[in-house]
Amino acid sequence: MNKIKIRKAVFPVAGLGSRFLPATKAQPKEMLPVVDKPLIQYAVEEAVAAGITEMIFITGRNKRAIEDHFDTAYELEAELEAAQKFALLELIQNVLPKNITCIYIRQSAPLGLGHAVLCARPVVGNEPFAVLLADDFMDVTDDQQPVLAQMTDVYAREGVSILAVNEVPLADTRQYGIVSVIPFKTDLDHVQQIVEKPLPENAPSTLAVVGRYVLDNSIFKHLEGLGQGAGGEIQLTDGIAAMLREQSVLAYRYQGQRYDCGSKLGYLKATVAMGRKHPETGAAFSEYLKNNV
Ligand code: UTP
Repeated sequence: MNKIKIRKAVFPVAGLGSRFLPATKAQPKEMLPVVDKPLIQYAVEEAVAAGITEMIFITGRNKRAIEDHFDTAYELEAELEAAQKFALLELIQNVLPKNITCIYIRQSAPLGLGHAVLCARPVVGNEPFAVLLADDFMDVTDDQQPVLAQMTDVYAREGVSILAVNEVPLADTRQYGIVSVIPFKTDLDHVQQIVEKPLPENAPSTLAVVGRYVLDNSIFKHLEGLGQGAGGEIQLTDGIAAMLREQSVLAYRYQGQRYDCGSKLGYLKATVAMGRKHPETGAAFSEYLKNNV
């Protein structure tokens, strides 16, 4: 695998979001706001911070709001301008930096994350690429780099596929792809085995893959040949397992705090964490929590 710069990111946003019904009945879960910004915007900003310029969204039914969010909102702009609300105008005009391209591909049916990633193949072409799951919300402190930028830095040194991993409680292994590893460097291990959603008694470890990946292009070849895996879905994990038989894959223990915003509890925790940090609400919200919670 050549050390090519990562220019493209894939955002699979075609899932049903059933854990968040009824909120996700008519709107994508990726548009749920954490304080005042939708989850998908945080993920895109993380990709921009990693130097990525092509954002490829794998969309499905009821996902129009994502396209609209990253498009120009002419009527709203005209109204804000007429009302001289220039700060708000600037806010909605700068949702994306000017050098960013957005591409939307429709996944015809939610056949699984592996299938969603495979849908990006015609646009990704022959390059390595990143995958970000926007419902895995990644918060970092001021002295930490955004998580995907940490990973593209590792990629620039190592030149092989990289999975973001984190320790989870043994009881939770059935919610994740789980890896067993061989120690390599600080925060970086060689993946030995990867299995999707193992029961705790079958889990090879408690090291879980979370929603950030830098993938070698050969993943497409491996995904193509896959049938249904865990839960009847075409699993990205199974594609990575097949790739692992041919080339090395690294597990990176990122710096930062992940919130599973596909679950209600994770979403609430992220909202509290970001509410406390927000420049407008932070001080008042922290005060409220101190006195009332
Ligand atoms: P999840 O496992 O979180 O599934 O998918 P989901 O359908 O979105 O949510 P629940 O479990 O029903 O509540 C992980 C990621 O993969 C995407 C989802 O949008 C999410 O970002 N995905 C999943 C697809 O794009 N297509 C699929 O067929 C499945």
